[in-house]
Amino acid sequence: METVVSGTRPTGVLHLGNYYGAVRNYVRMQEDPNYNGYFFIADFHSLTTHQQPDELGKLVKQTIAAYLASGLDPEKVTIYIQSHLPQIPELYLLMNMLAYKGELEKVATFKEKIRQHKENVNAGLLTYPVLMATDIIIHRAHKVPVGKDQEQHLEMTRNFAKRFNSRYEVDYFPEPTAFNYGEELVKVPGLDGSTKMSKSGTVNSAIFLDDSDDDIRRKIMRAKTDTGPTAENQERPQEIINLFDLMQIVSTEETYTSFDKAYNNCTIRYGDMKKQLAEDMIGYIAPIRKKLNELLVDEDHLSKVVLEGREKAWDSASKTLADVKNIMGLNYF
Ligand code: ADP
Ligand code: TRP
Repeated sequence: METVVSGTRPTGVLHLGNYYGAVRNYVRMQEDPNYNGYFFIADFHSLTTHQQPDELGKLVKQTIAAYLASGLDPEKVTIYIQSHLPQIPELYLLMNMLAYKGELEKVATFKEKIRQHKENVNAGLLTYPVLMATDIIIHRAHKVPVGKDQEQHLEMTRNFAKRFNSRYEVDYFPEPTAFNYGEELVKVPGLDGSTKMSKSGTVNSAIFLDDSDDDIRRKIMRAKTDTGPTAENQERPQEIINLFDLMQIVSTEETYTSFDKAYNNCTIRYGDMKKQLAEDMIGYIAPIRKKLNELLVDEDHLSKVVLEGREKAWDSASKTLADVKNIMGLNYF
């Protein structure tokens, strides 16, 4: 049996990128008897960039509801909130002794965040990968379903795990790998020509799980396009590649192939392509939105799920922390 861990920051309603790149895989892994899954809300991580105490509770609830609406089942996996486990910050402190300032400063997401948040380059941002590694190794995980943007964080997690094993001459932590069912990790593009759909992108760039049918139509009809191909099999600009990538996710193979051919023989009409994409996107998102809206009003249920999850995650986290303290010699008296 392999252990699976993944988390999402509660920084907004989940979008298609989060769903298709990560959460959908959590759900598939939950159905596989070879995996024991832990899926959590990374609320500590959200504090590195989002410090709004009045908003946080709402965002956490939305994220739990999105997990459940996507099909995660608390009977089959453990769903919990990161800050409910004090073992995590304790292990994080110990892991910080194994992380080098130089390697943390080189992380691509850190460099990007300090560009975006020049006014608040806090130590939490620098040690973000250490906390993330802690989330993963606290359950001694083997596999971590995430999108492509998290690849480097997983590489660092493996480095920390290996470093711990070699420094203390033990074979304690497995080396966890980023996981996707396909060959490669996924990066869902935005509708504004950007290569990654994200919560913090431009207003119309992301399709959120709670978008109405009209929101979806409007955003897709406004998506960036060029003036169209003028020669057969012409190379596609990024915004057109993006539309095709989105179509590959939500439309049938026949639909995709017919527009692909139309592009290549210059008969494509972007208006038709977008209309089709919008209807297929609605078919994909609407059932999740419906469940999400039902779940959001049932706060008692959400709270029951995470309080039960806390108990299950607690046992696993306590065991790892106790082992680590023993290995490190923190076991006198
Ligand atoms: P965001 O990047 O939108 O702030 P998070 O950082 O909370 O979202 O990411 C949660 C999960 O969703 C991670 O596993 C991340 O890799 C994945 N993810 C986020 N955006 C995308 C995307 N555009 N394509 C694929 N996966 C993504
Ligand atoms: N860093 C991840 C993101 O931005 C969220 C995250 C925190 C995470 N801890 C994790 C993902 C542990 C997987 C495993 O998406």
